[in-house]
Amino acid sequence: MGNQFLELAVETAMEAGAILLSEFDRPAKISYKGEVDLVTQADRRSEEAIVTRLRRYFPNHAIVAEEGGGQEGDASYRWVVDPLDGTTNFAHGYPCFAVSIGLEEAGELLTGVIYQPITKELYTASRGEGAYLNGKRIQVSGIERLSTSLLATGFPSTKRARNPNIHYYWNFTLRSHGVRRDGSAALDLASVACGRFDGFWEFGLHAWDTAAGVLLVREAGGVVTNFAGEPYRPGDYETLASNGRIHAELRQVGAEIQQQIADGEEAPRRSAVPGGE
Ligand code: IPD
Ligand code: CA
Ligand code: CA
Repeated sequence: MGNQFLELAVETAMEAGAILLSEFDRPAKISYKGEVDLVTQADRRSEEAIVTRLRRYFPNHAIVAEEGGGQEGDASYRWVVDPLDGTTNFAHGYPCFAVSIGLEEAGELLTGVIYQPITKELYTASRGEGAYLNGKRIQVSGIERLSTSLLATGFPSTKRARNPNIHYYWNFTLRSHGVRRDGSAALDLASVACGRFDGFWEFGLHAWDTAAGVLLVREAGGVVTNFAGEPYRPGDYETLASNGRIHAELRQVGAEIQQQIADGEEAPRRSAVPGGE
């Protein structure tokens, strides 16, 4: 049955991706959910197409979708949908965004699909069956050390002032080959799964941002936890994903940063940064 769900999720994501592409060519009609929390006609049209199709095939399944078009349903299956992950990029014409569709069975991730319509990259995963990019099996990277890793992170569009991430961004930038901030958590996770990024973290993500991406990372051999090392569940406050090999170092540095924040230090300690001057 896993593959049947996957097939339908792929068809649905590709239909939604085509809608996003058609909307990307016209000036975005932007409205605001919060001060910098944007929503466009593309978010809404994509969500409507996804929910309509899922509802047609699985009228009893629950659907949680970011723009509110979901439905309550039989608790054993729950679709978790981000119709456009990367809305800010989309609205500014920056071509980095995706559709993300995850399916949970009794609270466990079963299927995940992320589709980036600009590059036509389709990421798919089913529990126990591996992760794929355009039909080719993918794996996390083999990088062993934080100092030679490429990382990614993101900043939420709400409650920004209370988000501790700027401290993490600063520290991890100095300790790695760099930290990318590309504006789509779903694609960040997909990039960890296929080895482009070695690690990713963010605070305050929603279940729809991560459900599909987390399954991809795990099925590609990676690890997703919080900074304490506990298994991550979609909707948890802390997301820490990696190739597994640098996970302990990421957690260790995370603990140091938390300590620095608690001590009220503004900048990372120079002595704590290898080669720091
Ligand atoms: C956002 C993106 C971004 C992340 C934000 C999310 P949206 O989702 O995933 O990368 O940093 O926290 O809210 O609003 O574009 O669907
Ligand atoms: Ca999102
Ligand atoms: Ca979204």
